[in-house]
Amino acid sequence: MVPSRASVLMAALLPLLLQCSVAVTEASCSDVVPMKQRREVISITDFGAVGDGKTLNTWPFKKAIYRIQHLRRRGGTLLYVPPGVWLTGSVSLTSHMTLYLARGAVIKATQDTRRWPLVDPLPSYGRGRELPGRRYMSFIQGDGISDVIITGENGTIDGQGEVWWNMWRRRSLHFTRPNLVEFKNSRDIIISNVVFQNSPFWNIHPVYCSNVVIKYVTVLAPHDSPNTDGIDPDSSSNVCIEDAHISTGDDLVAVKSGWDEYGIAYGRPSSGITIRRLTGSSPFSGVAIGSETSGGVENVLVENVNLYDTGIGIHIKTNVGRGGFVRNITVVNVSMNKVRKGIRIAGDVGDHPDEYFDRRAIPTVDGITIKNVWGVDVQQPGSIQGIKNSPFTRICLSNVKLWGVAKRSAPWKCVDVSGAALGVQPWPCSALARTISSGYCSTAF
Ligand SMILES: *[C@@H]1O[C@H](CO)[C@@H](O)[C@H](O)[C@H]1NC(C)=O
Ligand SMILES: *[C@@H]1O[C@H](CO)[C@@H](O)[C@H](O)[C@H]1NC(C)=O
Ligand SMILES: *[C@@H]1O[C@H](CO)[C@@H](O)[C@H](O)[C@H]1NC(C)=O
Repeated sequence: MVPSRASVLMAALLPLLLQCSVAVTEASCSDVVPMKQRREVISITDFGAVGDGKTLNTWPFKKAIYRIQHLRRRGGTLLYVPPGVWLTGSVSLTSHMTLYLARGAVIKATQDTRRWPLVDPLPSYGRGRELPGRRYMSFIQGDGISDVIITGENGTIDGQGEVWWNMWRRRSLHFTRPNLVEFKNSRDIIISNVVFQNSPFWNIHPVYCSNVVIKYVTVLAPHDSPNTDGIDPDSSSNVCIEDAHISTGDDLVAVKSGWDEYGIAYGRPSSGITIRRLTGSSPFSGVAIGSETSGGVENVLVENVNLYDTGIGIHIKTNVGRGGFVRNITVVNVSMNKVRKGIRIAGDVGDHPDEYFDRRAIPTVDGITIKNVWGVDVQQPGSIQGIKNSPFTRICLSNVKLWGVAKRSAPWKCVDVSGAALGVQPWPCSALARTISSGYCSTAF
């Protein structure tokens, strides 16, 4: 049978139609690291764990993970954590495993800080982030591993950070506080459907990693808890964060890449970072880049973000001595309600690891597009402060409307910057108005 004209046409069009139907479904991280079923399932109770909130389960976790690591079952192993409160010291994960938290499962960090292990500082930081020297090991951590999933039915990983925050407040810390979760030199990581709360320090810290997906997570810490950043992709590539609700005491998401001379020497950028469908609240920044950007940060896409009761909505921050670059950053569709400052891009933020930083290590900031931003109850719409003799370039603000209380708003402030502004209210500053329209800045999506 000779195929009809219509069916030939249909065959030719079908791939196009399929593409269209793909394009209308929501963008998703799932192509970065596909979700995977494990062949084998073991339970933490098989190793003598007791979920009474009092028994210390460090040893059962160690034994279970040792078994996964050494039996190396094909398709990997799922470690099931049933409902209950499972107190433990720091847990080191291994490759090809899923840590699965059932509904009602809480993995709680011991508050015995004196016995918390210490590890070396990160080479790109040269020292602990808050104190010189070594740093405490992260609560749930993986080093040099791959194919790891932390998931379940929205169980909780609780850092019980209060004791650490109080040590910080009393200035009685000797080393940098532990992160709640850290993956280092690792790849193919998925973190999904877990609640993270009360981290001693940063919550989720992928560093020197590639292919990391973090989705459907809730991250909570009190607004007055010190340095409890939500998610900090650091010197990592292909990190995709979506459908996250974060409310903490510091930046909700902060993309980083090392600190001054140490970060410059290590030279590992963060690139290919996607952040989408994020909602939350912070006394500091909603979405931040920096201030540690010494290895460079590039190719970042942020879309569909909803912020309320927040210090600074979008904050790109670096400093003299950082070196590195921040380039090709796109932020689209952000709504803000009750924020102190909508947008801040600044070249004078953040402290230095020591006095050996190089004052000639000037960071470059180029190609930042911020589009479709809508805010109410914004005290100050924004400021862009470049670096003298090294202005920030190709900064594009398009369709940015940030209203103060009763529609009154303080003016924008800009210095040492060039770029363009289209449809920005209140009107930003003459430095951005000089180029009316140009290739890199338009109102199109
Ligand atoms: C877990 O929480 C996410 C929101 O973060 C929600 O979308 C999902 O339906 C929840 N899953 C279960 C099994 O309750
Ligand atoms: C800029 O970043 C986006 C991701 O946001 C990426 O798709 C694009 O390829 C990058 N452009 C260049 C020139 O690298
Ligand atoms: C931004 O929001 C508009 C309106 O809700 C939507 O049509 C558009 O697809 C969104 N853009 C992105 C990049 O998600």
